[in-house]
Amino acid sequence: MTQHEVRPLTESEFREAYELFRRALLEPPSKDEDWARNSGRYEPGRVLGAFVDGELAGTVMSTTNVLAVPGGRRLSAGAVTAVGVRADHTRRGLLTALMRAQLHDVGQRGEPLAMLHASEAVIYERFGYGVATRARNVELARVRAAFRADAPLGGRVRLVESPKAETGDDLADDLPAVCVVPAGPDRPG
Ligand SMILES: CC(C)(COP(=O)(O)OP(=O)(O)OC[C@H]1O[C@@H](n2cnc3c(N)ncnc32)[C@H](O)[C@@H]1OP(=O)(O)O)[C@@H](O)C(=O)NCCC(=O)NCCS
Repeated sequence: MTQHEVRPLTESEFREAYELFRRALLEPPSKDEDWARNSGRYEPGRVLGAFVDGELAGTVMSTTNVLAVPGGRRLSAGAVTAVGVRADHTRRGLLTALMRAQLHDVGQRGEPLAMLHASEAVIYERFGYGVATRARNVELARVRAAFRADAPLGGRVRLVESPKAETGDDLADDLPAVCVVPAGPDRPG
């Protein structure tokens, strides 16, 4: 373990944290338009930095979010993202210290959940994260695709609002009529 200090970053340090994260992912330095696109995600108080000898060496952040859970309730949740430790400071416990501080912060905010989409899933189990759902992207080459002969024609299109668990106005009532949820291991858990 290296001696390091973990603290929330000030807004004037957010760009540096963004650069560090990009470098950790081996991306080139950002252009101003990259930062303009991403800066809105950096919420004051939710961006943490780990400093070694006064220099920023690692960062994590979370955003204020909600997650619909089985039963339809929507719980507040910290959405974890932009996890990076400088390549010259890895494997010295910086991420561990950042994750610990972040989970503490999420708890202090009264958020019962922290969640993330991991590019490197094996990293996060040790911090208490686990697989909560699965997703699949499907690309359809339209030149090789056609509607099934028995697909219904006609009808009308209706715009529905997103699910509102509080009011009971839930898409779940309508969806079974228009799509089949597959059974088996690929069904979201
Ligand atoms: C992944 C990363 C954040 C780890 O930071 P770090 O400060 O080196 O992590 P720590 O020293 O706190 O290590 C914590 C534990 O995770 C393990 N670990 C770290 N990186 C890992 C990886 N890529 N795969 C598997 N395990 C990893 C460590 O071995 C350590 O386990 P141990 O305590 O049992 O030895 C850092 O390597 C990094 O920034 N990588 C590039 C960017 C990236 O992958 N970000 C995450 C995207 S999801």
